[in-house]
Amino acid sequence: MSDICPTILPQEIACAEANAPPCGIVVFGASGDLVRRKLLGSVFELFRRGLLSENFYIVGCGRSNFSDEQYRTDVGNAVSESVGDVPPELLRSFTDKIYYIVGDYEQESFYKSIAARLTKLNKVHNVGGRRIFYMAVPPLLYGTIVKGLDSAGLSCPGLPGCEQIRLVVEKPFGADLKSSDELNKIIQKHFAERQIYRIDHYLGKETVQNILMFRFANTIFEPVWNRNFIDHIQITIAESAGVEHRGGYYDKAGALRDMFQNHILGMLAFVAMEPPVSFDADSVRDEKVKLLQCIRPLTEQSVNTDFVRGQYAAGEVDGKNVVGYRNEPKVDASSATETYVAARLFVDNWRWQDVPFYLRTGKRLARKNTEIAITFKKVPHSMFVSAGLGDLPANTLVIHIQPEEGILLSFQAKRPGSKVCMGTLRMRFSYAEVFGGEPPEAYQRLLLDCMLGDQTLFTRQDDVEVSWTLLEPVLRAWANKPSMLYEYKAGSESFPQADRLIKSEGRTWRPLREI
Ligand code: BG6
Repeated sequence: MSDICPTILPQEIACAEANAPPCGIVVFGASGDLVRRKLLGSVFELFRRGLLSENFYIVGCGRSNFSDEQYRTDVGNAVSESVGDVPPELLRSFTDKIYYIVGDYEQESFYKSIAARLTKLNKVHNVGGRRIFYMAVPPLLYGTIVKGLDSAGLSCPGLPGCEQIRLVVEKPFGADLKSSDELNKIIQKHFAERQIYRIDHYLGKETVQNILMFRFANTIFEPVWNRNFIDHIQITIAESAGVEHRGGYYDKAGALRDMFQNHILGMLAFVAMEPPVSFDADSVRDEKVKLLQCIRPLTEQSVNTDFVRGQYAAGEVDGKNVVGYRNEPKVDASSATETYVAARLFVDNWRWQDVPFYLRTGKRLARKNTEIAITFKKVPHSMFVSAGLGDLPANTLVIHIQPEEGILLSFQAKRPGSKVCMGTLRMRFSYAEVFGGEPPEAYQRLLLDCMLGDQTLFTRQDDVEVSWTLLEPVLRAWANKPSMLYEYKAGSESFPQADRLIKSEGRTWRPLREI
């Protein structure tokens, strides 16, 4: 095997990164984990990269009691923890634009005080009317908050210019079709769809977006991107981490709701959808939804053969002993929640008929590895049989999402020498080697898009509905038969039942890549 590294000439890179317009960001759940670990660091990076307008501010809102100054100190610590050491003056110029309002989500007076504060801050920071309400709270509170915002005149759906006021909603978008529908009805009573930004952070990852560039900015891949040339596609999101401190949430959700309904199906849609007319929000999202609608409907019967779920038992990950899922904090000791899902889906359309898509995601696996692997059909006939090369390996194209973002194409080539000697070569593009450093955190891109009013990478409500409709039989089958849950040892690559899903068709899961 050998690596061939491509060169990208700077003049070949077309770049259309826009700066954010003036904007106020109001974050509910301001001292929560998501805000401290992801959001603050991401807004700070946008600020450091000069992509934010001078005219911006952040207001943290929550139940914890902070003064502005105390919250600024807390934000400073959270930023340093997530992005590393930062020059104190730079940090200070960022935190100076941060405020805090304490209150009770149930009380209308909370929203009135937010409205009064925003009126003042809009003047001080000269941001005009653009503002983002970010719901970093448990979904149970979404309804209460949107109602409260409306009661204080902060949502104004239907009024001219209402799209300047945006609501960011974090997943999970409901727990099934019915609850997502209810949630949506509540939100849409107070905010119009063009004001709603449902975040699936996987769509903000550079390499996930790159799927669209790769497919639709080149001519050489699309002609082979179909059932005539592709044998099967594998999408893997493997995590070595367990549920960590999120046992309470996770035990009610499980891998199907936490990862499959959103991240896995989102990646599947990008890989398999038809070319959108243009790279604008509705064109891209129309194609995404069309693709999801083509996925062969499941039945409780087909769930038995095409879905496998597992739960991790105690084991060893990265050389450390780790407890089993049922012994994680805030997890029910007899929990039947899955931490692993593997599935085989088919897309019933002209392009993909009968091409299996093997999808898997799991926690506490041997390594963190997210990738999309496209395995092409083998050559129809080998002319090298006499040289002992009757069974030639198939070409594979692997899009590495993380860690080590990149693309890898494998093909056969002659090895030097007088004999007919062949080897598999890997042509590798490494994001870090070509562009230098790590790609930016997905939240940076998504927050910037939200400030710019670009909904392309955000999930539209019909997308949520189609994916829950697809998965309803799975939820029903598993609820009826909680015993359909297999144990796997933490630190494993896979387990026999998950292997059988793919082996029954003579294929194997790709090994989880070592970096
Ligand atoms: C989140 C899930 O959406 O994605 C988590 O709720 C999961 O359970 C996380 O760990 C994985 O994200 P990433 O970006 O680390 O792959």
